[in-house]
Amino acid sequence: MKTLEMLQINKDGWEKSAERFFGRTALPEFGPLAPTEDDLNLFGKIQGKKVLDIGCGSGHSLQYMGNKGAEELWGIDLTTKQIETATELLREQQVKVNLFESPMEENPGLPTNYFDIAYSIYALGWTVDLERTLANIHSYLKPGGIFIFSWEHPMHDRMKREDSKFVLEKSYLIEGPEFNEAWNRSVIIYHRKLTTYINTLIGVGFEIEKVIDDVALPDVVPEDNHLRWYSVEKAKLLPTTFIIKAKKKK
Ligand SMILES: C[S@@+](CC[C@H](N)C(=O)[O-])C[C@H]1O[C@@H](n2cnc3c(N)ncnc32)[C@H](O)[C@@H]1O
Repeated sequence: MKTLEMLQINKDGWEKSAERFFGRTALPEFGPLAPTEDDLNLFGKIQGKKVLDIGCGSGHSLQYMGNKGAEELWGIDLTTKQIETATELLREQQVKVNLFESPMEENPGLPTNYFDIAYSIYALGWTVDLERTLANIHSYLKPGGIFIFSWEHPMHDRMKREDSKFVLEKSYLIEGPEFNEAWNRSVIIYHRKLTTYINTLIGVGFEIEKVIDDVALPDVVPEDNHLRWYSVEKAKLLPTTFIIKAKKKK
């Protein structure tokens, strides 16, 4: 299937489902049952920084950045509904806000060598062209700028619950586009190994500073939690999320 066809399928899926996700995976959270920015302090000082959110969704992570004193808030997202919601949510922010409705695989007019911080919370893995997307992000950053992203751990959907056990159902090693099961096969998400993310970052010129795949489990497990896509039971066996911090060389 062609890139544009895949993007259209995913955009249609997101236009229909956006509301279900408003504010669901947003900073200071990196992902479900994962350590938060409050635990990790990966961003450091945000005050006075120009920040760019890749797959900004409903704008809740940008709101967090604004509340922490970022100097400029920029975002890019594929979905009209998300950009509309983010525009509304960020209306109160006192600083410059620039949002673009665009696939992350394209540069819709973002400045290059400009940002101190780029980040992506549970959105980068939606890309249908990882190398091109990461090369774009690298170009937007100033030398020494940082890129932090989180995404579902690529082992997480390989394992499936069967009665009281988890079974390894799909290959971790075979990469490529898949109709995604968590979305009832209505959207396309590439399966990629963790090393593919790392090596593609390095390939476009980033230095890797940190890779995190820890879990943060609650003391009390809510009822019926085991039925959820991200369950505590499963997260005791393997991470839901990985987080990478990378830097553009000076
Ligand atoms: C889980 S949401 C992100 C939540 C958001 N990071 C936040 O902090 O609130 C994933 C987002 O990725 C966007 N998306 C999916 N494919 C995309 C693509 N190819 N280019 C840009 N955005 C994309 C979706 O529209 C959706 O808003």
